[in-house]
Amino acid sequence: MGSSQPESQIDSSNLDGVSNPQIGLEYPPVDEEKAIAALRQLHLKVHQVSPGPGLRGEHPKAIAGVWATFRIADDIPAQYRIGLFSEPRTFRALIRFSNGRSFDDRVANVRGMAIKVFTAHDENAPALNQDFLLIDHPIFFARNVQHTLEFLIASSSGTPSAQLAETTHPKLKGFNSIATQSPLKMSYWSTTPYQLGTGAVKYFAYPSAKQDQPQPDLVLSNSENSLREAMTEQLTRQKIGVNFDFAINPQTDASSMPVEDPTIEWTSDPVRLATISIYPQRFDSEAQMQFVENTDWSPWNFLPEHRPLGGINRARRWIYSDSKELRHKTNGVTPTVPTGRESF
Ligand code: HEM
Repeated sequence: MGSSQPESQIDSSNLDGVSNPQIGLEYPPVDEEKAIAALRQLHLKVHQVSPGPGLRGEHPKAIAGVWATFRIADDIPAQYRIGLFSEPRTFRALIRFSNGRSFDDRVANVRGMAIKVFTAHDENAPALNQDFLLIDHPIFFARNVQHTLEFLIASSSGTPSAQLAETTHPKLKGFNSIATQSPLKMSYWSTTPYQLGTGAVKYFAYPSAKQDQPQPDLVLSNSENSLREAMTEQLTRQKIGVNFDFAINPQTDASSMPVEDPTIEWTSDPVRLATISIYPQRFDSEAQMQFVENTDWSPWNFLPEHRPLGGINRARRWIYSDSKELRHKTNGVTPTVPTGRESF
């Protein structure tokens, strides 16, 4: 969405050792730009080798890309009725479920749920998307850009993650897990914060307590595509849809819920903002899988009211665009902004 993006509210009076942080403000550490430049460079170098330049640098395996509706709740408290959530409406959405690194669904991994909400209602209006990127773990494993860079330097020179979890990066413990159930039964968190009005929030999504149909109890197969198979079984064969609640944890205390450290979970009272309904469908045609592969999700596809906040998000702005440019160039793809009206 380029040049129309508003600048964030950055409190530059107190960059190092923030003593009295304010709700909704960012506090970039000194030298962050240098760390972002180094992370970009190293990420491209590592990413070009594995998983390969034609794939996403992270989350290369699409478990599934499915169509859904994103219905804004009609009982949102007034202070959160902002931007996408300003009035009860139903949008079309496209959701990509992914593995963080592995192509084998049986391996311990972090798993992604990337939601793209098609926000332009008028067929003739230019396409406009609001993306929400979530993972199946409530926190990120690195505090900030420097800490992420240190992880990548160590892991790319052969230090096992288990060793880093014992030493420099303790929050790696539990970050990757073996899936015991379908992606349609997991919960997902943004881990990093986003602006909502003058405040900051983190997002999460979880299977709704109330479903339109009883949910099937599926046992995962012993196959490298067991998660895709579980989704096919539910959505395509049994034709059973699933609802997720989409909610926020608002930042209610800027010290104990810092914007600049996504290793800390925000545990304020949740507020439900929307219902995501993934309806029965076939999603694994070659054409649809290819479309999803060539579609881009990024925290930086956003409406002005939902600007990404914090250092990890500031780094992602550049790293996601590096990754997508490299893979589109490698694959000879001209990227387009999807409208949500595509069909396969
Ligand atoms: C500095 C830290 C991070 C780096 C370097 C990073 C890097 C990347 C890259 C390069 C991609 C592929 C982009 C593309 O080619 O389209 C990606 C995708 C993704 N990332 Fe991150 N990421 C970071 C933090 C996070 C965090 C905190 C989350 C938490 C929600 C997250 C969730 C995801 C998800 C769900 C995808 C898949 C998007 C899709 O399905 O297209 N990442 N990440």
